[in-house]
Amino acid sequence: MARRKIIAGNWKMNKTPSETVTFIKELKPLVETKEADVVFCVPAIDIIPALEAAKGSNIMIGAENMHFEESGAFTGEISPQMLTDVGVKYVIIGHSERREYFAETDETVNKKVKKAFEHGITPIVCCGETLTQREQGITIDFVRQQIKIAFLGVTAQQAKTAVIAYEPIWAIGTGKVATTEQAQEVCSAIRACISEIYDQATGEAIRIQYGGSVSASNAKELFAQADIDGGLVGGAALKPDFGKIVNYQ
Ligand code: PGA
Repeated sequence: MARRKIIAGNWKMNKTPSETVTFIKELKPLVETKEADVVFCVPAIDIIPALEAAKGSNIMIGAENMHFEESGAFTGEISPQMLTDVGVKYVIIGHSERREYFAETDETVNKKVKKAFEHGITPIVCCGETLTQREQGITIDFVRQQIKIAFLGVTAQQAKTAVIAYEPIWAIGTGKVATTEQAQEVCSAIRACISEIYDQATGEAIRIQYGGSVSASNAKELFAQADIDGGLVGGAALKPDFGKIVNYQ
């Protein structure tokens, strides 16, 4: 069975709640499609207005982060139950900015991935190498290690429904997109890694996005690759152009 494409926006720390409402109203008709799942991952405070504004459309709302505990003394954090209570279906886990600025590790990523599944939230699990690692020729080894740790203790049944976002760090926010060959090579290696951990059916089912300077002009070629099932889009998800990425065909 062909995998359904999933195109997600990662808003990062952008847009106030009122800007969120205006933007989603503008985007609704532009991101209409039957071909792909469309997810807007927005800042925590924008989640409720985003859900409200997206009503009646194909836009699903996701979070950009989540804590791995149910509740408690974790000032400033947001729990899985807070997300499911309002109808959030997706959460980005382990984005490279969270790893770099907020000390997230492969171990906390793994805890969060397992917790998301426990609550029926689909994790968008991020991985990707630095420019130094690419130059050292260790990209595939490094990404395989990230994936293996992220999926420790995750069942095949759960893994089948997961989304992985391969985002080379040097391509994020730089306008320096990976070549389609580079992106396809790593996405294919990730799929092989999942097949190794579980089985071929799981490898075939899991959806793998490419992220890093995806734009209206490169989406079509990237998403046409055999192992690329859509994109995680930062900068271009904040503009009406996101509609062109969603309707890349
Ligand atoms: P970018 O960000 O599209 O602005 O490069 C992608 C991401 O960080 O998810």
